Amino acid sequence: MKLLVTGGAGFIGSNFVMYMLREHPDYEIVNVDSLTYAGNLENLQSVESNLQYTFIQADITDVQQMEQIISKGIDVVVNFAAESHVDRSILSPDIFVRTNVLGTQVLLDAAKKYQVTKYVQVSTDEVYGSLGPTGLFTEETPLMPNSPYSASKAGGDLLVRAYHETFGLPVNITRCSNNYGPFQFPEKLIPLIISRALNDEAIPVYGDGLNIRDWLYVEDHCSAIDLVIHNGKIGEVYNIGGNNERTNIYIVETILEQLGKPASLIQYVQDRLGHDRRYGIDPTKLGTELGWKPIHNFETGIKETIQWYLNHQDWWTRIQSGTYQDYVQLQYGKRMGDSTE
Ligand code: NAD
Ligand code: DAU
Repeated sequence: MKLLVTGGAGFIGSNFVMYMLREHPDYEIVNVDSLTYAGNLENLQSVESNLQYTFIQADITDVQQMEQIISKGIDVVVNFAAESHVDRSILSPDIFVRTNVLGTQVLLDAAKKYQVTKYVQVSTDEVYGSLGPTGLFTEETPLMPNSPYSASKAGGDLLVRAYHETFGLPVNITRCSNNYGPFQFPEKLIPLIISRALNDEAIPVYGDGLNIRDWLYVEDHCSAIDLVIHNGKIGEVYNIGGNNERTNIYIVETILEQLGKPASLIQYVQDRLGHDRRYGIDPTKLGTELGWKPIHNFETGIKETIQWYLNHQDWWTRIQSGTYQDYVQLQYGKRMGDSTE
């Protein structure tokens, strides 16, 4: 099988490329990534010399390049490429629409033109909006995105659905909850806490810290997508999640405790605009139809993740220089009384 993975230099995409090369050593993997601030080829050093693996730097909105790549015998497209950070989408929504909506449509057109056997859209639980204190997101929950990021992902999902209904393109959509694990960019909550705590910097907690996210170890997300590629019923949506709901403040306190850092580092800051209160995934369909089960529980997963960041300080300190600093200043400068300078 020849797989096109887009966004394979990002957090989940790079974990997925490594997972697939390990689980299916006979598959060919073509990784297309434009290498935005979030794309990092260092993540893939361990597979660089694998003859089954090729990297191409290209933008998924580039029609000619996507057609050229997909025309060369691609069987399955797995689209991870996206602008993925909610806070950035509040600062600059335009690039989110461009990559997450237009980029998806360009890939769908090329997939249709060259008749791939399957197109998998890696989407997110955020398209369902925010939950109250009870209930879970199922595949039937109406789409009610609240941020420019989630609205752009919902737009991509609707196009995928439309290409299936209108043109019969063989598609699946996956909607996963919050991932954590190795190679996550330190703008996202868990690596942000770890890296700032190790530097004895204040930990910004939005609002009252009681927003809830449903955490899944990245490798469990990869195994779910692998199953969907092979066994997912054409046209279906599959939710992915491991029933690990935690408040943000619980996550912060757990990490500080494990690192032996004081709770006095916690700084409550102005809330995120339109901040979704709670996410919780019902993964029953994936479990009963495809037999998926996560293998990592949160307690061991978070310990392993903290250890990974401790062992790879060079990886995230390199990221924390240059343009990432401009974003930190823009995002947190005023909220934290410029203590980020
Ligand atoms: P990420 O930001 O770490 O990686 C995104 C990758 O896409 C980067 O390598 C970037 O260079 C690349 N990219 C961005 N725009 C591109 C373009 N126009 N053309 C080609 N490449 C481009 O994101 P992530 O956290 O790894 O998320 C991957 C996917 O999974 C996204 O679609 C996201 O919506 C989805 N998702 C993420 C989570 C999560 O918790 N991180 C949960 C559920 C779903
Ligand atoms: O649910 C899946 C989604 O999870 C993915 O689709 C997104 O790509 C991914 O970024 C993630 O979105 P969140 O907004 O949930 O993740 P983030 O790590 O940005 O924030 C997690 C929670 O922590 C959220 O309630 C906001 C809060 N937070 C975040 C940051 C960066 C803080 O309190 N302080 C912070 O500095």
